[in-house]
Amino acid sequence: MQQYYSPDKGFSKEPESYWIASTDTTNYPALEEDITVDVAIVGGGITGITTGCLLKRAGLKVAIMEADRIARGTSGHTTAKITSQHGLIYDKIATQIGMKKAKRYAQSNEKAIKLIASIIEKINIDCDFKWQDAYVYTQSDDYIEKIKKEVGIAQCLGIKASYTTDLPLPFPIKAAIRFEKQAKFHPRKYLLKVAQYIDGDGSYIFENTNVVGIEREKQCSVVAENGKRITASKIIIASLFPFSNFRGLYFSRMFQERSYIVAIKAKSKFPEGMYINAEKPTRSMRSHPFGDGEILLVAGEHHKTGRGKDENVHYKNLIDFADKNFGIEGILCRWSAQDCTTPDSIPYIGNITPNYPDIYVATGFKKWGMTTGAVSAMILRDLIVKGNNSWAEVYDPSRFIETGSILTFIKQNLDVAMNFVSGKFPTGSPAGKIEKGEGKIVNVAGQKIGAYRDEKGKLHLIDTTCTHMGCELKWNDAEKTWDCPCHGSRFSPTGEVIDSPAFEPLDKIEIDN
Ligand code: FES
Repeated sequence: MQQYYSPDKGFSKEPESYWIASTDTTNYPALEEDITVDVAIVGGGITGITTGCLLKRAGLKVAIMEADRIARGTSGHTTAKITSQHGLIYDKIATQIGMKKAKRYAQSNEKAIKLIASIIEKINIDCDFKWQDAYVYTQSDDYIEKIKKEVGIAQCLGIKASYTTDLPLPFPIKAAIRFEKQAKFHPRKYLLKVAQYIDGDGSYIFENTNVVGIEREKQCSVVAENGKRITASKIIIASLFPFSNFRGLYFSRMFQERSYIVAIKAKSKFPEGMYINAEKPTRSMRSHPFGDGEILLVAGEHHKTGRGKDENVHYKNLIDFADKNFGIEGILCRWSAQDCTTPDSIPYIGNITPNYPDIYVATGFKKWGMTTGAVSAMILRDLIVKGNNSWAEVYDPSRFIETGSILTFIKQNLDVAMNFVSGKFPTGSPAGKIEKGEGKIVNVAGQKIGAYRDEKGKLHLIDTTCTHMGCELKWNDAEKTWDCPCHGSRFSPTGEVIDSPAFEPLDKIEIDN
């Protein structure tokens, strides 16, 4: 079992997700020969795995391809709240898309909670699933009316929501909204068992299988890096970010954010329920069983990828919040996550573009992917098996997006242009001493170069020009990655792609050292 360390020792351990550290590593094979299935799914997170499960139950043969190991990406770094409560969203989307469609959003997410519960029951999965109420609270007078309004709208949409000013938290609140019968679980205990259910009888899970392209002739094929391919009638792109070699320009219709989580042993017992505040900075809390007791997960501090100043400060802010309000006896671990957000805060689920009726996408979950991943699975299953789904119009990737949302989004994307331009000036530090484990941008003869020294002392130099559209990357000291401030791609210290939309690794600069 993992051990706590003292908060006095600072961050003595590298970031590591509790969900990953507390479960076995999977060992599915890579794709080594051409095969044919009914549906090929790119991405082995909650969306790909849940969709694979529903399609297999519908009698189809599926193959899931994951570039890394399954359930280690965003699904392995979540807070794992299974809720139809996505912050204060219902008043916003009811204004944008009308009550009728907002009701479908609410219904689909409520149904997603029940779907996960039913899969757990049917496959008999021990994954610490627990029904709990979920709360959005505020400590600010400015949000009291917003919360009251959200309660009224949520009730009209059929959600069991209520208003309260009394929560069992150790700090005062002004108002809160309660959603009844939401849930939480251990996401990898759940997903690894569902993956076992999928694998076999003509269906497959492939790991370490990096998909580099999709070809469309008589049938579609998904092509892996080693040239092997899976031919299928339908293809689902369920990776965090859709492929950049297909139309749809998703990089210009979403932004990516990072958020942070710390897992601590609190001095006092955490109350029943899951909590998130309405104002900034975000503070999201839930407990989870650990040994004879529990750990408290505190999450928040989100920012656009590549725009954090010093990523370690975000962890420290969460630790300070937890210590002030709950008292810290020990820190178990800390980790961060990445997710995409759309202009109207509603995911893109459906055909990637109207021109590609056999290719589907699910993305833009805004950090609520446990339920919206399951919503995606139900919609995509129905679109593939029946040809329609009553919620699909709400999530259609080609939907009209209301002007207010677009204007906000354009303003946010002006930052992209600024980052593109400002990143091109050679302001890196002069090349100097770089410690083991350290990365920085150095200035060599007027050129910016990314330098990283690994734990064995070898210096790795890379071109810090993002291979997606040429923005300048920034070093993320907490995660030891190169992050792109434009559309959120991330690269390992030595330049391999971690998060898309970038597809190609960074150019390496070879020197003798
Ligand atoms: Fe688009 Fe880097 S992710 S330029």
